[in-house]
Amino acid sequence: MALIAHSIFLCVVFLDTGWGSKPTADHSVCKTEKRSADCNGRWLDTVPADLPAGTEELLLDANAIQTLRNASLGQYQFLQSLRLCENGLEVIEPGAFLASRRISFLFMANNALFMNYSMTAAALWSLPALRKLDLSGNQLTEDMMATLIQQLSSLESLSVARNAIMRLDDSHFKNLPYLKELDLQQNYIFEIEIGAFESLQGLQFLNLAYNYMPCIVEFDLTQLRILNASNNRIEWFLAADNDSAFKLETLDLSHNRLLFFPLLPRRNKLQTLLLTHNKISFYGKLFNDSESTLQLQSPYDNITNVTTINLWEEISYGVLSFLSILDMSWNRLQYLPERFFEGMASLGHLKLSHNCLETLHIHERESLDSLVDLDLSYNRLSNLQMNLGPGMSLPNLRWFNLSTNRLHGLQAEIFTHTPMITTVDLSNNPIEMCALHGSTTGAGSLSCIDIRNAGSLRNLYLAGCNLKVLGSHVFRGTFLVQLDLSDNPSALLSGLLPLQDVAPSLQVLSLRNTGLSAASINVDFSAFQKLKILDLSENSLASFPESLIGLRLSMLDLRRNCLHTLPQHAMQNPLGKSLHVIYLSRNPYDCCSLGWWDVLRSFSTVHIADMSEVTCNYSSRLINAANLPELVLLSCKWVTTDIILLYLVLVLPTCFALLVAFAIIFLTFRQHILQMVKIRYRSSPY
Ligand SMILES: *[C@@H]1O[C@H](CO)[C@@H](O)[C@H](O)[C@H]1NC(C)=O
Ligand SMILES: *[C@@H]1O[C@H](CO)[C@@H](O)[C@H](O)[C@H]1NC(C)=O
Ligand SMILES: *[C@@H]1O[C@H](CO)[C@@H](O)[C@H](O)[C@H]1NC(C)=O
Ligand SMILES: *[C@@H]1O[C@H](CO)[C@@H](O)[C@H](O)[C@H]1NC(C)=O
Ligand SMILES: *[C@@H]1O[C@H](CO)[C@@H](O)[C@H](O)[C@H]1NC(C)=O
Ligand SMILES: *[C@@H]1O[C@H](CO)[C@@H](O)[C@H](O)[C@H]1NC(C)=O
Ligand SMILES: *[C@@H]1O[C@H](CO)[C@@H](O)[C@H](O)[C@H]1NC(C)=O
Ligand SMILES: *[C@@H]1O[C@H](CO)[C@@H](O)[C@H](O)[C@H]1NC(C)=O
Ligand SMILES: *[C@@H]1O[C@H](CO)[C@@H](O)[C@H](O)[C@H]1NC(C)=O
Repeated sequence: MALIAHSIFLCVVFLDTGWGSKPTADHSVCKTEKRSADCNGRWLDTVPADLPAGTEELLLDANAIQTLRNASLGQYQFLQSLRLCENGLEVIEPGAFLASRRISFLFMANNALFMNYSMTAAALWSLPALRKLDLSGNQLTEDMMATLIQQLSSLESLSVARNAIMRLDDSHFKNLPYLKELDLQQNYIFEIEIGAFESLQGLQFLNLAYNYMPCIVEFDLTQLRILNASNNRIEWFLAADNDSAFKLETLDLSHNRLLFFPLLPRRNKLQTLLLTHNKISFYGKLFNDSESTLQLQSPYDNITNVTTINLWEEISYGVLSFLSILDMSWNRLQYLPERFFEGMASLGHLKLSHNCLETLHIHERESLDSLVDLDLSYNRLSNLQMNLGPGMSLPNLRWFNLSTNRLHGLQAEIFTHTPMITTVDLSNNPIEMCALHGSTTGAGSLSCIDIRNAGSLRNLYLAGCNLKVLGSHVFRGTFLVQLDLSDNPSALLSGLLPLQDVAPSLQVLSLRNTGLSAASINVDFSAFQKLKILDLSENSLASFPESLIGLRLSMLDLRRNCLHTLPQHAMQNPLGKSLHVIYLSRNPYDCCSLGWWDVLRSFSTVHIADMSEVTCNYSSRLINAANLPELVLLSCKWVTTDIILLYLVLVLPTCFALLVAFAIIFLTFRQHILQMVKIRYRSSPY
């Protein structure tokens, strides 16, 4: 707000004086533009004295100005905004701002103002128009802080984050009637006494994140709109037990040690309640003893006030009719009290993931008409019952996450009462798909899930559900765009037939480890004309499905199959033109027929995401396909292309050897042979 107001003001001045027509002035060290001078990170140890006298914004972050002297800003009397963060600034001399009393924004984060804070305080007190002050990261204790801000009655926003503040009482914030925003995060605050913020009548935003507070009791800051108390050690949150109207809209108590649901103001306007990462549980069902009460004593002046609460009382005081976001993920909820949602008419986003919920019943009176997101993932739900009927529906539910539970099925009516639902995540549940003509009504249907005719559904996640072989029309009447069936090793043993009803609409399909194999005859993707992303990994496919060639996929995953080769012509087809990313590793490609690999690599439009991991099989050895050794290439040539040469090479020496042998035999036995011939002829009678 302050910033917006500031820029509007700047703008008005700018129009009035016609400064805008002047070109950007050059300065030896700083960049000056309009009425702003940027001297950030210039190794300066003093404020430059020769900037335009009309400068209204001066940026001096990341320099080395250790002392801001009396005369430093003397000529900049129009200064409104000054940044001096990260300078090692130790002291501001008391007269430093006397000439520039219009300063309303002063940022001095990450300095060493603890060194001489009383002198710096005197300088700050001379700024009657100061609205926003940043003193974060200056090693200030609470008393130093109190001194520095003592007389800054015009202040609207103060940050003292990342300092050394440990406890606060009513002596620390006095005389700050306009303060709206107070940032105390990342200190060591372990105690805030009642009344510490009493004089801050205008306080709207209070940040106490990352401190060491053990509890917040008697919370009575009715004017506050945002309280951030995340990342403390809070075990209790109790609002003052009376009928004051609180303006609180956002309460962040996440990352604490809450054991109970906070006791919220009875009259509230709470819209966002963040309770993630606590230890919240409800105990009424576990301990049925109305005598268990807790007495909290808070010393107030000399009188000790005692608040008595029944530990096992389940309903918070307040009716949360404005609540829109409720995050109770990462707690220890085993159940939700009956009628927990009653009155939460505005609830849009409910996160209950990472708890121990075993059942969830939503009753008719708890109308959740506004609910858009419901996250119940990572629980132990085996039973999800919503009293769905004419009076009860979830008309706005779009996103329903039931991942990682123990569900076997869902009520059959669930999709008729959730007309807007687009996304359902049922992954990692022991789900069964209802048989085609199975019963579709009554409690019996909780043992299976019927997706058919869920016309609004677009994204369905069924990964890791151990699905049986899918029937042929389980998706009839749906228009799924995204379907994840991965890690269901039996689901598609009979081929792609079960997907026939959704094939025309699917764009993203994950069939990783779904039992598609060489044996299945029906691996025909030609009906999936809108498919963009296809995961076929871990399926023992022995040949590349030819039907993929006609699809316009942008991503294809073929890892961990049994492919020996890919068709070389694949890239000349629509597939080659649309494909951007392909995964290929963990297949026993034949090293001697990698023609397709060279073609694929020559395509600059296709990125082989796992290029370095692609291996091929050469006489039962795995060799990196991206750089095949020359020797393998040679011997492949040997074996495949020049087979005739091989024959020649093998046959010629044999023939030659035979010939030589014959010649030798002939030569050695020549005498005998001639004699034998002679004898023959001699003995014959002439
Ligand atoms: C700075 O100005 C203050 C107030 O005018 C004065 O008291 C102080 O002596 C001056 N300091 C120096 C170092 O001149
Ligand atoms: C505080 O500043 C004054 C004036 O700059 C100086 O004389 C004094 O030594 C400083 N004190 C400390 C503790 O640095
Ligand atoms: C509360 O403060 C923490 C730490 O600065 C921040 O992460 C968180 O978003 C804040 N919560 C809200 C609701 O703004
Ligand atoms: C409620 O209690 C707080 C302190 O506990 C007190 O300041 C406030 O005035 C009370 N309001 C009403 C209406 O009683
Ligand atoms: C709790 O105890 C009361 C009486 O002692 C009994 O009427 C009630 O049904 C019990 N509730 C549960 C949830 O056990
Ligand atoms: C608190 O009690 C002490 C002693 O009991 C007494 O002297 C003092 O005046 C009391 N203070 C108030 C504010 O009542
Ligand atoms: C504590 O009790 C006193 C007197 O009974 C009362 O004036 C005061 O408002 C109470 N404080 C709180 C925080 O309830
Ligand atoms: C459902 O929740 C789990 C974990 O809480 C998350 O990993 C998953 O992405 C969510 N599903 C969807 C569809 O957002
Ligand atoms: C690798 O090739 C050899 C023949 O060269 C073959 O016997 C073996 O089964 C192949 N390995 C794989 C994993 O296909």
